[in-house]
Amino acid sequence: MKKPGKGPSTAGSGARALRTRVKKKSGLKESSRRWLERHLNDPYVHRSKAEGWRSRAAFKLIEIDDKHKLLKPGHRVVDLGAAPGGWLQVAAKRINSPDEAPTVVGIDYLEIDTIPGATILQKDFLDDDAPDMLIEALGGAPDVVLSDMAAPTTGHRRTDHIRTMHLCEVAAHFAVSVLKPGGHFLAKTFQGGTENVLLDMLKRNFRTVQHVKPPASRDESVELYLLAKDFRGRDVSAPDDADDAA
Ligand SMILES: C[S@@+](CC[C@H](N)C(=O)[O-])C[C@H]1O[C@@H](n2cnc3c(N)ncnc32)[C@H](O)[C@@H]1O
Repeated sequence: MKKPGKGPSTAGSGARALRTRVKKKSGLKESSRRWLERHLNDPYVHRSKAEGWRSRAAFKLIEIDDKHKLLKPGHRVVDLGAAPGGWLQVAAKRINSPDEAPTVVGIDYLEIDTIPGATILQKDFLDDDAPDMLIEALGGAPDVVLSDMAAPTTGHRRTDHIRTMHLCEVAAHFAVSVLKPGGHFLAKTFQGGTENVLLDMLKRNFRTVQHVKPPASRDESVELYLLAKDFRGRDVSAPDDADDAA
């Protein structure tokens, strides 16, 4: 594998002048034909292959991190919905995660091939024991929780959105229960999809909360990322604790 570079800062470089066409008489369904044509002509797909990233999604994290500076050497990072491993590669490289004692852990119910500097759990994040297993594998509280989780598509757009939004919410609650003070949370969401209740919860817990759309996220896609920076820390005098003390 070629050593992954720092990644692109623009979407344009590497674009090929000649467009590959997939013939209408290819035997494919029209939606599949369009998908294949777009894939074959996508500069990010070409660059991810050339630079050794496992997915074109790697560029989304590269672009967000170049701009918002989330990942620092020495950080501990959790990556939810990590297959096939593009974000894990980017995180491991940017935090200088050691091969012998990785400080990034990824979880997915799909299998992920080994990645130097990353611990991989093949498991459903919604399982009750997943949060404890992630923190145990990490060996301490994370500085950054990433989630690119997306529910498998059913073909019914509204259902797909609701299921992915549920994953985003569970990821957000996980983040506020495990992050170090000053830590960051980045998660996939959809335009118009983030519930006010979730946004309010994040605004109470983080100093800044915003939606970001990196250039690598296709314009025609309703995908967005929710970025919550600078976790305020858990309130030690929260009502539950007060009850325990009474
Ligand atoms: C868009 S892909 C992630 C791509 C990844 N960031 C990369 O760069 O290679 C979304 C992933 O979320 C995973 N996923 C969805 N629901 C999940 C769950 N409940 N537990 C674990 N992984 C889940 C899917 O299996 C899928 O691999």
